[in-house]
Amino acid sequence: MASPHDIQTNDTNSAIINEIQELKKELGQQIIMPAHHYQKPEVVAVSDFVGDSYKLSKEGAAASARFIVFCGVRFMAESAAILAAPGQTVLIPDPVAGCPMADMIDAAQAEAILDKLDALTGQAVAPLTYMNSYADMKALTGRRGGAICTSSNAAKLLNHYLDAGKPVFFGPDFNLGINVANDLGIDRKRIFRVRKDGALECMESVTDSVKTPNPSQGLLFIWDGFCHVHKTFKVDQIQAARSRNPEVQVIVHPESDEAVVQAADSSGSTEGIYKTVAAGTPGSSWVVGTEASFVHRLAAEYPDRSIVPLRESYCFNMARITLDNVLASLRSIKAHLADPLRPLYHIVSVDPAVKADAALALNRMIDIVEGRAGGAKH
Ligand code: 13P
Ligand code: SF4
Repeated sequence: MASPHDIQTNDTNSAIINEIQELKKELGQQIIMPAHHYQKPEVVAVSDFVGDSYKLSKEGAAASARFIVFCGVRFMAESAAILAAPGQTVLIPDPVAGCPMADMIDAAQAEAILDKLDALTGQAVAPLTYMNSYADMKALTGRRGGAICTSSNAAKLLNHYLDAGKPVFFGPDFNLGINVANDLGIDRKRIFRVRKDGALECMESVTDSVKTPNPSQGLLFIWDGFCHVHKTFKVDQIQAARSRNPEVQVIVHPESDEAVVQAADSSGSTEGIYKTVAAGTPGSSWVVGTEASFVHRLAAEYPDRSIVPLRESYCFNMARITLDNVLASLRSIKAHLADPLRPLYHIVSVDPAVKADAALALNRMIDIVEGRAGGAKH
Protein backbone atom coordinates (compact mmCIF):
# COMPACT_ATOMS: atom_id res chain seq x y z
CA MET A 1 0.00 0.00 0.00
CA ALA A 2 1.32 3.48 -0.87
CA SER A 3 1.89 5.57 2.24
CA PRO A 4 2.57 9.28 2.74
CA HIS A 5 6.04 8.25 3.86
CA ASP A 6 7.09 6.22 0.83
CA ILE A 7 10.66 7.02 -0.17
CA GLN A 8 11.08 8.28 -3.70
CA THR A 9 14.48 7.04 -4.71
CA ASN A 10 14.88 9.08 -7.85
CA ASP A 11 17.54 11.43 -9.17
CA THR A 12 15.76 14.52 -7.85
CA ASN A 13 15.78 13.05 -4.35
CA SER A 14 19.47 12.24 -4.43
CA ALA A 15 20.22 15.77 -5.69
CA ILE A 16 18.21 17.16 -2.75
CA ILE A 17 19.97 14.87 -0.28
CA ASN A 18 23.36 15.94 -1.65
CA GLU A 19 22.49 19.62 -1.30
CA ILE A 20 21.19 19.08 2.27
CA GLN A 21 24.44 17.30 3.20
CA GLU A 22 26.52 20.07 1.59
CA LEU A 23 24.62 22.81 3.41
CA LYS A 24 24.88 20.95 6.72
CA LYS A 25 28.64 20.66 6.22
CA GLU A 26 28.91 24.34 5.35
CA LEU A 27 26.77 25.50 8.30
CA GLY A 28 28.66 23.12 10.63
CA GLN A 29 28.12 23.70 14.35
CA GLN A 30 25.69 26.52 13.66
CA ILE A 31 22.84 24.10 13.07
CA ILE A 32 21.45 20.92 14.55
CA MET A 33 18.65 18.83 13.03
CA PRO A 34 16.72 16.55 15.42
CA ALA A 35 14.01 14.24 14.02
CA HIS A 36 11.12 12.43 15.69
CA HIS A 37 10.82 8.65 15.15
CA TYR A 38 7.70 9.15 12.99
CA GLN A 39 9.57 11.18 10.38
CA LYS A 40 9.99 9.82 6.87
CA PRO A 41 13.04 7.52 6.67
CA GLU A 42 14.82 9.84 4.23
CA VAL A 43 14.33 12.77 6.66
CA VAL A 44 15.63 10.63 9.57
CA ALA A 45 18.62 9.74 7.37
CA VAL A 46 19.67 13.39 6.93
CA SER A 47 18.95 14.36 10.57
CA ASP A 48 21.54 14.55 13.37
CA PHE A 49 19.64 12.39 15.84
CA VAL A 50 16.27 10.68 16.16
CA GLY A 51 14.23 10.05 19.28
CA ASP A 52 10.95 10.12 21.16
CA SER A 53 9.57 13.41 22.39
CA TYR A 54 11.42 13.22 25.74
CA LYS A 55 14.80 12.50 24.18
CA LEU A 56 14.28 15.29 21.64
CA SER A 57 13.39 17.87 24.29
CA LYS A 58 16.27 16.87 26.58
CA GLU A 59 18.93 16.73 23.85
CA GLY A 60 17.46 19.77 22.10
CA ALA A 61 17.72 21.76 25.35
CA ALA A 62 21.38 20.77 25.69
CA ALA A 63 22.24 21.74 22.10
CA SER A 64 24.32 24.87 21.64
CA ALA A 65 23.76 25.38 17.88
CA ARG A 66 22.45 28.78 16.80
CA PHE A 67 19.73 27.18 14.62
CA ILE A 68 17.66 24.09 15.51
CA VAL A 69 15.90 22.74 12.40
CA PHE A 70 13.24 20.59 14.02
CA CYS A 71 11.87 17.69 11.96
CA GLY A 72 8.65 16.87 13.77
CA VAL A 73 5.26 18.38 14.50
CA ARG A 74 4.70 21.89 15.82
CA PHE A 75 4.23 21.12 19.53
CA MET A 76 7.65 19.42 19.53
CA ALA A 77 9.38 22.31 17.75
CA GLU A 78 7.57 24.74 20.06
CA SER A 79 8.88 22.86 23.11
CA ALA A 80 12.41 23.19 21.70
CA ALA A 81 11.77 26.94 21.26
CA ILE A 82 10.53 27.22 24.86
CA LEU A 83 13.73 25.58 26.12
CA ALA A 84 16.03 27.39 23.68
CA ALA A 85 18.76 29.61 25.08
CA PRO A 86 18.80 33.32 24.20
CA GLY A 87 20.18 33.71 20.67
CA GLN A 88 19.01 30.25 19.53
CA THR A 89 16.35 30.05 16.82
CA VAL A 90 14.12 27.04 16.17
CA LEU A 91 12.87 26.42 12.63
CA ILE A 92 10.21 23.96 11.48
CA PRO A 93 10.31 23.03 7.77
CA ASP A 94 6.49 23.04 7.54
CA PRO A 95 4.64 25.16 10.12
CA VAL A 96 1.33 23.47 9.23
CA ALA A 97 2.52 20.17 10.76
CA GLY A 98 0.15 20.11 13.74
CA CYS A 99 -1.25 17.47 16.08
CA PRO A 100 -5.04 17.12 16.40
CA MET A 101 -4.63 15.78 19.95
CA ALA A 102 -2.73 18.89 21.06
CA ASP A 103 -5.65 20.97 19.72
CA MET A 104 -8.08 19.13 22.00
CA ILE A 105 -7.40 21.29 25.05
CA ASP A 106 -6.36 24.88 25.63
CA ALA A 107 -5.37 26.87 28.69
CA ALA A 108 -8.81 28.46 29.17
CA GLN A 109 -10.54 25.06 29.24
CA ALA A 110 -7.92 23.62 31.60
CA GLU A 111 -8.07 26.63 33.90
CA ALA A 112 -11.85 26.26 34.28
CA ILE A 113 -11.51 22.53 35.02
CA LEU A 114 -8.70 23.07 37.52
CA ASP A 115 -10.75 25.71 39.38
CA LYS A 116 -13.68 23.30 39.53
CA LEU A 117 -11.48 20.39 40.71
CA ASP A 118 -9.76 22.54 43.35
CA ALA A 119 -13.17 23.48 44.77
CA LEU A 120 -14.40 19.89 44.61
CA THR A 121 -11.38 18.27 46.28
CA GLY A 122 -10.51 21.16 48.61
CA GLN A 123 -6.91 20.91 47.37
CA ALA A 124 -4.66 22.48 44.73
CA VAL A 125 -4.94 19.86 41.98
CA ALA A 126 -1.65 19.50 40.07
CA PRO A 127 -1.85 19.68 36.27
CA LEU A 128 0.23 16.97 34.58
CA THR A 129 0.22 17.86 30.90
CA TYR A 130 1.27 15.63 28.04
CA MET A 131 4.01 17.04 25.82
CA ASN A 132 1.43 16.88 23.00
CA SER A 133 0.01 20.31 23.91
CA TYR A 134 0.71 23.93 23.00
CA ALA A 135 2.64 26.64 24.84
CA ASP A 136 -0.45 28.16 26.53
CA MET A 137 -1.23 24.79 28.18
CA LYS A 138 2.38 24.31 29.19
CA ALA A 139 2.47 27.81 30.70
CA LEU A 140 -0.73 27.21 32.67
CA THR A 141 0.79 23.94 33.90
CA GLY A 142 3.92 25.75 35.10
CA ARG A 143 1.90 28.50 36.81
CA ARG A 144 -0.27 26.02 38.71
CA GLY A 145 2.64 23.97 40.06
CA GLY A 146 2.45 21.14 37.52
CA ALA A 147 4.80 19.54 35.03
CA ILE A 148 4.92 18.25 31.47
CA CYS A 149 5.31 14.53 30.81
CA THR A 150 5.82 12.26 27.83
CA SER A 151 4.86 8.64 27.27
CA SER A 152 8.29 7.51 28.50
CA ASN A 153 8.00 9.21 31.90
CA ALA A 154 4.28 9.77 32.62
CA ALA A 155 4.27 7.06 35.35
CA LYS A 156 7.21 8.64 37.15
CA LEU A 157 5.68 12.13 36.99
CA LEU A 158 2.24 10.93 38.10
CA ASN A 159 3.79 9.08 41.02
CA HIS A 160 5.74 12.19 41.94
CA TYR A 161 2.56 14.24 42.43
CA LEU A 162 0.49 11.47 44.03
CA ASP A 163 3.33 10.77 46.48
CA ALA A 164 3.25 14.46 47.40
CA GLY A 165 -0.45 13.98 48.30
CA LYS A 166 -1.78 15.97 45.34
CA PRO A 167 -4.69 14.94 43.12
CA VAL A 168 -3.74 15.25 39.46
CA PHE A 169 -5.46 16.61 36.35
CA PHE A 170 -3.96 14.82 33.33
CA GLY A 171 -4.49 15.86 29.71
CA PRO A 172 -5.04 15.90 26.85
CA ASP A 173 -4.63 12.16 26.11
CA PHE A 174 -7.15 10.00 27.95
CA ASN A 175 -5.50 6.74 26.87
CA LEU A 176 -2.03 7.60 28.15
CA GLY A 177 -3.57 8.73 31.45
CA ILE A 178 -5.60 5.57 32.04
CA ASN A 179 -2.83 3.25 30.85
CA VAL A 180 -0.36 4.81 33.27
CA ALA A 181 -2.96 4.68 36.07
CA ASN A 182 -3.33 0.95 35.38
CA ASP A 183 0.46 0.49 35.55
CA LEU A 184 0.47 2.22 38.95
CA GLY A 185 -2.56 0.25 40.19
CA ILE A 186 -4.64 3.34 41.05
CA ASP A 187 -8.10 2.48 42.39
CA ARG A 188 -10.57 3.02 39.50
CA LYS A 189 -13.14 4.45 41.90
CA ARG A 190 -10.78 7.39 42.34
CA ILE A 191 -10.22 7.99 38.61
CA PHE A 192 -12.57 10.26 36.66
CA ARG A 193 -12.81 11.02 32.96
CA VAL A 194 -13.32 14.75 32.40
CA ARG A 195 -15.70 15.33 29.49
CA LYS A 196 -15.33 18.45 27.34
CA ASP A 197 -18.45 19.95 28.98
CA GLY A 198 -16.80 19.49 32.40
CA ALA A 199 -18.88 16.43 33.36
CA LEU A 200 -16.98 13.86 35.46
CA GLU A 201 -17.40 10.15 34.79
CA CYS A 202 -15.98 7.63 37.27
CA MET A 203 -13.90 4.82 35.76
CA GLU A 204 -15.68 2.27 37.95
CA SER A 205 -19.41 2.09 37.49
CA VAL A 206 -20.93 1.34 40.90
CA THR A 207 -24.67 0.71 40.95
CA ASP A 208 -25.11 0.82 44.72
CA SER A 209 -25.98 4.47 45.45
CA VAL A 210 -24.30 4.28 48.90
CA LYS A 211 -21.01 3.44 47.19
CA THR A 212 -21.42 5.96 44.37
CA PRO A 213 -17.91 7.27 43.71
CA ASN A 214 -17.45 10.76 45.00
CA PRO A 215 -15.28 13.07 42.84
CA SER A 216 -14.19 14.89 46.00
CA GLN A 217 -12.17 11.71 46.74
CA GLY A 218 -10.72 11.68 43.22
CA LEU A 219 -6.99 11.11 42.76
CA LEU A 220 -6.76 11.34 38.99
CA PHE A 221 -8.92 13.36 36.59
CA ILE A 222 -8.22 12.67 32.91
CA TRP A 223 -9.23 14.85 29.97
CA ASP A 224 -11.05 13.15 27.13
CA GLY A 225 -8.57 13.74 24.26
CA PHE A 226 -7.20 11.11 21.88
CA CYS A 227 -4.85 10.41 18.97
CA HIS A 228 -6.72 9.37 15.83
CA VAL A 229 -3.65 7.44 14.60
CA HIS A 230 -3.62 5.16 17.67
CA LYS A 231 -7.43 4.97 18.00
CA THR A 232 -7.51 2.66 14.97
CA PHE A 233 -5.84 -0.20 16.88
CA LYS A 234 -8.25 -2.87 18.14
CA VAL A 235 -8.00 -6.02 20.25
CA ASP A 236 -9.26 -8.22 17.40
CA GLN A 237 -6.27 -7.11 15.28
CA ILE A 238 -3.99 -8.46 18.03
CA GLN A 239 -5.99 -11.70 18.18
CA ALA A 240 -5.75 -12.07 14.40
CA ALA A 241 -1.97 -11.51 14.50
CA ARG A 242 -1.61 -14.15 17.23
CA SER A 243 -3.76 -16.63 15.33
CA ARG A 244 -1.48 -16.17 12.29
CA ASN A 245 1.64 -16.63 14.46
CA PRO A 246 1.32 -17.63 18.15
CA GLU A 247 5.01 -16.73 18.68
CA VAL A 248 4.55 -13.09 17.71
CA GLN A 249 5.33 -10.36 20.25
CA VAL A 250 2.89 -7.47 20.23
CA ILE A 251 4.15 -4.08 21.38
CA VAL A 252 2.02 -0.92 21.27
CA HIS A 253 2.26 2.78 22.08
CA PRO A 254 0.33 3.82 25.25
CA GLU A 255 -1.77 6.30 23.23
CA SER A 256 -3.67 3.14 22.20
CA ASP A 257 -6.93 2.17 23.92
CA GLU A 258 -6.69 0.58 27.37
CA ALA A 259 -8.00 -2.78 26.10
CA VAL A 260 -5.38 -2.81 23.32
CA VAL A 261 -2.52 -2.07 25.75
CA GLN A 262 -3.78 -4.81 28.06
CA ALA A 263 -4.04 -7.32 25.21
CA ALA A 264 -0.50 -6.52 23.97
CA ASP A 265 2.65 -8.12 25.41
CA SER A 266 4.16 -4.73 26.20
CA SER A 267 3.88 -1.00 25.57
CA GLY A 268 6.27 1.92 25.40
CA SER A 269 7.22 5.27 23.91
CA THR A 270 8.57 5.32 20.36
CA GLU A 271 12.13 5.17 21.72
CA GLY A 272 11.09 2.34 24.08
CA ILE A 273 9.54 0.41 21.19
CA TYR A 274 12.63 1.00 19.06
CA LYS A 275 14.98 -0.27 21.78
CA THR A 276 12.80 -3.30 22.63
CA VAL A 277 12.53 -4.48 19.03
CA ALA A 278 16.23 -3.71 18.40
CA ALA A 279 17.12 -5.89 21.41
CA GLY A 280 15.01 -8.78 20.03
CA THR A 281 16.69 -11.85 18.64
CA PRO A 282 17.25 -12.52 14.94
CA GLY A 283 14.29 -14.55 13.69
CA SER A 284 11.86 -13.03 16.22
CA SER A 285 8.45 -11.74 15.09
CA TRP A 286 6.99 -8.39 16.10
CA VAL A 287 3.66 -6.73 15.56
CA VAL A 288 3.89 -3.04 16.43
CA GLY A 289 0.91 -0.83 17.25
CA THR A 290 2.07 2.66 16.45
CA GLU A 291 2.60 4.98 13.48
CA ALA A 292 3.26 2.74 10.49
CA SER A 293 6.11 4.60 8.77
CA PHE A 294 8.16 4.17 11.94
CA VAL A 295 7.36 0.44 11.97
CA HIS A 296 8.43 0.12 8.32
CA ARG A 297 11.72 1.92 9.08
CA LEU A 298 12.35 -0.48 11.98
CA ALA A 299 11.64 -3.40 9.63
CA ALA A 300 14.11 -2.01 7.08
CA GLU A 301 16.79 -1.54 9.77
CA TYR A 302 16.34 -5.09 11.16
CA PRO A 303 15.77 -7.33 8.13
CA ASP A 304 16.73 -10.42 10.19
CA ARG A 305 13.35 -10.34 12.04
CA SER A 306 9.73 -9.94 11.07
CA ILE A 307 8.41 -6.49 12.05
CA VAL A 308 4.96 -5.46 10.84
CA PRO A 309 2.47 -2.77 11.85
CA LEU A 310 -0.63 -3.85 13.77
CA ARG A 311 -2.47 -1.74 11.20
CA GLU A 312 -1.28 0.68 8.48
CA SER A 313 -2.05 3.84 10.47
CA TYR A 314 -0.15 7.00 9.50
CA CYS A 315 0.36 10.44 11.00
CA PHE A 316 -0.13 12.77 8.03
CA ASN A 317 1.06 15.73 10.07
CA MET A 318 4.46 14.14 10.69
CA ALA A 319 4.61 13.38 6.94
CA ARG A 320 4.39 17.10 6.12
CA ILE A 321 8.13 17.37 6.76
CA THR A 322 9.84 16.44 3.49
CA LEU A 323 13.32 16.59 1.98
CA ASP A 324 12.10 19.58 -0.06
CA ASN A 325 11.02 21.70 2.88
CA VAL A 326 14.06 20.66 4.97
CA LEU A 327 16.23 21.90 2.10
CA ALA A 328 14.24 25.15 1.93
CA SER A 329 14.86 25.70 5.68
CA LEU A 330 18.60 25.12 5.28
CA ARG A 331 18.83 27.37 2.21
CA SER A 332 17.00 30.09 4.14
CA ILE A 333 19.58 29.90 6.96
CA LYS A 334 22.45 30.29 4.48
CA ALA A 335 20.73 33.23 2.78
CA HIS A 336 19.90 34.83 6.14
CA LEU A 337 23.48 34.57 7.36
CA ALA A 338 24.63 36.35 4.21
CA ASP A 339 21.87 38.97 4.47
CA PRO A 340 19.92 39.21 7.76
CA LEU A 341 16.98 40.76 5.88
CA ARG A 342 16.32 37.43 4.13
CA PRO A 343 13.57 35.44 5.97
CA LEU A 344 14.13 32.16 7.81
CA TYR A 345 11.80 29.24 6.94
CA HIS A 346 9.99 28.93 9.35
CA ILE A 347 10.68 30.45 12.74
CA VAL A 348 8.84 28.87 15.69
CA SER A 349 8.10 31.74 18.01
CA VAL A 350 6.61 31.58 21.48
CA ASP A 351 4.89 34.53 23.13
CA PRO A 352 7.40 35.84 25.71
CA ALA A 353 4.49 36.19 28.18
CA VAL A 354 4.02 32.40 28.23
CA LYS A 355 7.58 31.22 27.59
CA ALA A 356 8.93 31.46 31.17
CA ASP A 357 5.99 29.55 32.73
CA ALA A 358 6.04 26.94 29.97
CA ALA A 359 9.79 26.47 30.48
CA LEU A 360 9.14 25.98 34.21
CA ALA A 361 6.77 23.07 33.45
CA LEU A 362 9.16 21.50 30.92
CA ASN A 363 12.18 21.87 33.18
CA ARG A 364 10.26 20.32 36.09
CA MET A 365 9.80 17.23 33.92
CA ILE A 366 13.50 17.07 33.07
CA ASP A 367 14.48 17.72 36.71
CA ILE A 368 12.18 15.01 38.08
CA VAL A 369 13.12 12.43 35.42
CA GLU A 370 16.84 13.10 35.70
CA GLY A 371 16.69 13.29 39.52
CA ARG A 372 17.93 16.90 39.56
CA ALA A 373 17.31 18.97 42.69
CA GLY A 374 14.91 21.43 40.97
CA GLY A 375 12.30 18.66 40.67
CA ALA A 376 11.30 19.07 44.30
CA LYS A 377 10.41 22.76 43.88
CA HIS A 378 6.71 23.10 43.17
P1 13P B 1 6.71 9.59 21.87
O1 13P B 1 7.03 10.52 22.98
O2 13P B 1 6.56 8.16 22.32
O3 13P B 1 7.71 9.73 20.75
O4 13P B 1 5.27 9.95 21.30
C1 13P B 1 4.98 11.11 20.63
C2 13P B 1 3.75 10.99 19.84
O5 13P B 1 3.24 11.98 19.34
C3 13P B 1 3.14 9.69 19.66
O6 13P B 1 1.99 9.81 18.89
FE1 SF4 C 1 -0.32 13.79 17.31
FE2 SF4 C 1 -1.12 11.26 17.01
FE3 SF4 C 1 0.50 12.38 15.16
FE4 SF4 C 1 1.43 11.75 17.63
S1 SF4 C 1 0.70 10.34 16.05
S2 SF4 C 1 1.79 13.67 16.50
S3 SF4 C 1 -0.38 12.22 18.89
S4 SF4 C 1 -1.62 12.99 15.66
